[in-house]
Amino acid sequence: MAEGSSIESISHEQRRFVPPKDFAAAAHIRSIEDYEEQYKRSLADPDGFWAEVAADSHFFRKWDRVLQWDPPFAKWFVGATTNVSFNCLDLQLQRGRGDQTAILWEGEPVDAQGRPRDVQRITYRELHRRVCRFANALKSIGVRKGDRVTIYMPMIPELAVAMLACARIGAPHSVVFGGFSATAIVDRVNDAESHVVITADGGWRRGAIVPLKATVDEAAQASPLIRTVVVARRCGQEIAMQPGRDVWWHDIEQGASDDCPAEPLDAEHMLFLLYTSGSTGKPKGILHTTAGYMVFTAYTARLVFDLKPDDVYWCTADIGWITGHSYVVYGILQNGVTTLMYEGAPNFPEWDRFWSIIERHRVTKFYTAPTAIRAFMKQGPQWPNRRDLSSLKLLGTVGEPINPEAWMWYHAHIGTQRCPIVDTWWQTETGGILISPLPGATPTKPGSATRPLFGVDAAILDKSGQEQPANSGGYLCIRRPWPGMLRGIYGDEARFRRQYWSEIPGVYFTGDGARRDADGYFWIMGRVDDVIKVSGHRLGTAEIESVFVAHPKVAEAAVVGFPDEITGEAIAAFITLKTGIAPSPSIKDELSRHVAHTVGAIARPKVIRFTDALPKTRSGKIMRRLLRELATKGTVEGDTTTLEDFGSIARLREEES
Ligand code: WT7
Repeated sequence: MAEGSSIESISHEQRRFVPPKDFAAAAHIRSIEDYEEQYKRSLADPDGFWAEVAADSHFFRKWDRVLQWDPPFAKWFVGATTNVSFNCLDLQLQRGRGDQTAILWEGEPVDAQGRPRDVQRITYRELHRRVCRFANALKSIGVRKGDRVTIYMPMIPELAVAMLACARIGAPHSVVFGGFSATAIVDRVNDAESHVVITADGGWRRGAIVPLKATVDEAAQASPLIRTVVVARRCGQEIAMQPGRDVWWHDIEQGASDDCPAEPLDAEHMLFLLYTSGSTGKPKGILHTTAGYMVFTAYTARLVFDLKPDDVYWCTADIGWITGHSYVVYGILQNGVTTLMYEGAPNFPEWDRFWSIIERHRVTKFYTAPTAIRAFMKQGPQWPNRRDLSSLKLLGTVGEPINPEAWMWYHAHIGTQRCPIVDTWWQTETGGILISPLPGATPTKPGSATRPLFGVDAAILDKSGQEQPANSGGYLCIRRPWPGMLRGIYGDEARFRRQYWSEIPGVYFTGDGARRDADGYFWIMGRVDDVIKVSGHRLGTAEIESVFVAHPKVAEAAVVGFPDEITGEAIAAFITLKTGIAPSPSIKDELSRHVAHTVGAIARPKVIRFTDALPKTRSGKIMRRLLRELATKGTVEGDTTTLEDFGSIARLREEES
């Protein structure tokens, strides 16, 4: 945990927005009284509550017990067998949703008139067929139940097909965000001991091809574990295929049958790994399992987005993040609605691309990130104003705290003052949304994620586990298990216990600081550990520091986050070069490129500063608080009495001027 134990909040937001009457009248949860009553019931009888929720899902075999809680290990729906792919597809066919569009996909390229060149509407029936075929193709190349499959793809329908095919045969997937580097693939492949990588020749981003296959080639050079690379054709350019290792998606599908019954899997069978940053150097493989995750994502999606059969729902997150797993694919398809996928950049060819997509496809529910909203805000309301956004019924945000200004802009210019906004708080680890307004029930306050969802026992605690009074800052913790929770960190039980269950004994520690106001509303203040959020993406300071130090010219590095108008936080790196190497703009450039190449472009530091010594305490700990202050305000006023080398701060200050 970062030094400095008091958490102070400076927000005095007073505005309130009640759910529009007509929205509330038709919503799944229609009033705050309804919410309160069900919330109480869900905590009084969690087993009964979740059993009722799970009754909406399909199980091959019913559970013997709803929950087995042996802290910190939870098993949900013990003894049941089910399949998430079945629930996303076959169950929807049984419910008569076969002709409904499951995936509505738009590629990035546009024609001379600005119309999208590639649009696909894939019905549930067709998606079922494509998933079955590809599942059989995976079997034909030797993928078996339990094998971890790495997926490194652009936002194309094949990405969802690949995940659903893996889930169908019980092969856990590990999706690696397509913006990450070869090194990131290698680390994840090695940790997961994965032998198969599914990728594409490339994907379109801002008018250019992202050469995904070339990056996988680089990864395969470095990791002998990669035996087979499956390549989907998207961009059609010439690429190198290595015989014996690389196979085309369309070739292995040749002759594969459309019939592939979903494997009945144990409720706790591993569904996927998703790697995320923590406070140490190595990304951790967050482990999610089958039944609990399935039930939790379906239910939270239905309530929070108030899903109805004719919804065209669009979450702009990449599937490479948890948001895409839970609320582009699994939670949404289980509700039988249309999920929209867009391949490219928000500002291609112009800053109104998102709004043109909403207009073209009559999108009803729209879910995006505060960083995107701030970027649009900066471009001005003329972009959304020239599009018809009247189909929208609800807006959502996720990933970082939304500042009230951005909330108000979203409300005014995208929601045209009609649409409820759901500010949803959750994490890769939680699997699904834990704190959020229910759009027909909860009055909202700009900047607050409002109240916990059913069954979620969220609390603000101090380090000793004491609950904090209203409006006092503390650590956001969850005091009971919930079905979507992570089951572990792959291959590292000690880290799982240490990271989430030891900081405050007996409860799940989220790593976020927050307060709860007198109305019971949660206000998230941000991470209290060494994790920073750049454009809502999680980056560990230790992880980036170790990348810097791996560079031959670097002796020592300290990385901190500091506020940025658009990305929320940005990265500042304080670097000590090896003896005899003089700081220069070209070394700055070199280091910046090194980080972007090793981790991915999102980790590129905004500021790099050289110093001949980093400020440290007498015990040798880098004083990040000082560096954060320096990066934010350009100077240090705080207490420096424990500082070992006073001179280092003075020199850093000089370097600034
Ligand atoms: C961290 C989790 C959950 C999907 C995307 C991010 C921050 C997330 C909110 C919100 C304030 C938020 C927290 C959390 N966060 N949603 N609505 N308000 N902060 O997943 O990468 O696992 O990051 O994102 O700091 O701990 P993630």
